[in-house]
Amino acid sequence: MTVSDTFFELRNGVEMPALGFGVFKISDGDPVEEAIAEALKAGYRSIDTAAIYGNERGVGAAIKNADIPRSDIFLTSKLWNADQGYKQALNAFDETLSKIETDYLDLYLIHWPVEDLFQDSWAALEDIYNAGKVRAIGVSNFTLRHLKILFTNCRIIPMVNQIEFHPWLQQPELIRYCKSKGILPEAWSPLLKGEVSKIPVLAEIGKKYGKNAFQVVLRWDIQQGIATIPKSVHPERIQSNADIFDFELTEEEIRTINSLDKKYRIGPDPENFDF
Ligand SMILES: NC(=O)c1ccc[n+]([C@@H]2O[C@H](COP(=O)([O-])OP(=O)(O)OC[C@H]3O[C@@H](n4cnc5c(N)ncnc54)[C@H](OP(=O)(O)O)[C@@H]3O)[C@@H](O)[C@H]2O)c1
Repeated sequence: MTVSDTFFELRNGVEMPALGFGVFKISDGDPVEEAIAEALKAGYRSIDTAAIYGNERGVGAAIKNADIPRSDIFLTSKLWNADQGYKQALNAFDETLSKIETDYLDLYLIHWPVEDLFQDSWAALEDIYNAGKVRAIGVSNFTLRHLKILFTNCRIIPMVNQIEFHPWLQQPELIRYCKSKGILPEAWSPLLKGEVSKIPVLAEIGKKYGKNAFQVVLRWDIQQGIATIPKSVHPERIQSNADIFDFELTEEEIRTINSLDKKYRIGPDPENFDF
């Protein structure tokens, strides 16, 4: 198995690469184009962007310039908070397609659960999905409470919930709930924005396999059925983060990493954000 042929199957049968490439904070133009070119060279076939990242044009250019069919690439983008609401979401989706210069997305997510608006936004995503312009739809940063509100009158259950997830924030109850509903959990900031190197036990576990702390954490995500999207702009890191398909953590090692949870967020709390 490699990064190119390891997938999770979404509830509607669509195959989503287990390991993708995140492009948050990579500038539009050459930086994002170069980073994606490196990622594709390393075998990644899934790219995670968002309207708010301001690099959708560069993402589109990178995909166009690659010698890889569009259908082999799994492309995710996200609806920004200022564009929530039914009509606004439809327009924002069209704008994303036109910036990327593609006629469909593989996955479109509601970026944050904006109170009083996310249900209308979801109705728009359902219609976009039913119109065949996106292969899967989902949410991001939804807690149990948000999901339960969504379920009161949605037509389609989200296929993915992209949440902050790393050894210091594991949200086991939310993960269990998502899985019980057939929602694939996906980890953002899986590397704790680089801070996983400060957790010695990860490097210790990796020694036995000739892997570093970053690789151990990404492997831990995937072995637990959680899609993951590390970001880097350095070619050697982009490659090494994808070199995780030739070893397997033991149950005991997984339990050791699970015991590191301290409910520590590096990002905003979805129950209390003001943007
Ligand atoms: N849905 C949401 O609300 C949300 C929020 C945040 C992020 N995301 C998505 O999740 C993706 C990943 O999260 P993230 O970018 O916040 O953080 P991350 O992937 O946890 O960490 C990225 C940081 O780790 C460093 N790094 C990566 N690989 C490394 C390695 N092998 N050795 C040493 N350092 C390494 C990178 O530095 P260099 O780049 O300098 O190598 C960068 O500073 C984002 O790009 C985005 O697509 C989504």
